[in-house]
Amino acid sequence: MEYAKLNTGAEMPILGFGVYGIEDTSVILSAFDAGYRSLDTASGYFNEDVVGRAVRESGLKREDVFVTTKLTTGAMRENRVQAEFEQSLSKLGMDYVDMYIIHWPVKEKYVEAWLELEKIYKSGRAKAVGLSNFQDYHITEIKKVWSVVPAINQIELHPFLTQKPLLELCKAEGIVPEAWSPLGGGGSAADIKDNLLTHPTLAEIGKKYSKSTAQVILRWNIDLGIITIPKSTNPERIKANINIFDFSLTPDEIAQIDALNKNLRTGPNPDNFSF
Ligand code: A2P
Repeated sequence: MEYAKLNTGAEMPILGFGVYGIEDTSVILSAFDAGYRSLDTASGYFNEDVVGRAVRESGLKREDVFVTTKLTTGAMRENRVQAEFEQSLSKLGMDYVDMYIIHWPVKEKYVEAWLELEKIYKSGRAKAVGLSNFQDYHITEIKKVWSVVPAINQIELHPFLTQKPLLELCKAEGIVPEAWSPLGGGGSAADIKDNLLTHPTLAEIGKKYSKSTAQVILRWNIDLGIITIPKSTNPERIKANINIFDFSLTPDEIAQIDALNKNLRTGPNPDNFSF
């Protein structure tokens, strides 16, 4: 495993396991077996209880697992940030999380919510706090009031959506970027994922290292200092996705992958989502 250094001083595994839609501890236990030690859940995934159970069933020490969860848009709209955080801890069966983040920047609400997350951080019940799906102007707004700099910004990022200007801003502020849907996502975006995972540029680079296109993409994240959280329910792919710590890409290969950008989103646009 490699680690990203957060502005709190803590180290976060640079590869984590996304658990969106996972309702069964066995999938999470196979991720632990494969060597993952960071789990990315959310109140809105309705599986924090499963995550908590899996951590306990694994026999791993709590401090050896990095747990991220997220604040829902609903709780932000209804000014229930503290109550929802308490509910997350209770569902997880934990007395702290390693990372608590705002899932989506609800207009008129995200600045206030950030100040609530700062309180949670200062109470010690979240070892770090951060953002998700924040654009540059959202970050500029919270910067006017923050006394804690967000540790991460988790954004949709893959070779068809390289997010270069936002990465630059995050870097300048000391915010570590994190990629969701690094493999182009699933579900309704299946065609994008298929085009990505069969892309000849990625296949050619993979051939050189005897790695799959998915492994090349995940290594590209890491070589750019981006935390990445691929999701899989398949034990073989779970193992393959962590088997990326024995190679790294050249600057030219990184540039070739960067050049695949099409500003193509598989998920909602943070400028105009409506949930
Ligand atoms: P599966 O669960 O059947 O492995 P993302 O993390 O970008 O949201 O992508 C998740 C999707 O990508 C899931 O549909 C997952 O399906 C699939 N996936 C995960 N790892 C791989 C891989 N190594 N190769 C191909 N598809 C993968």
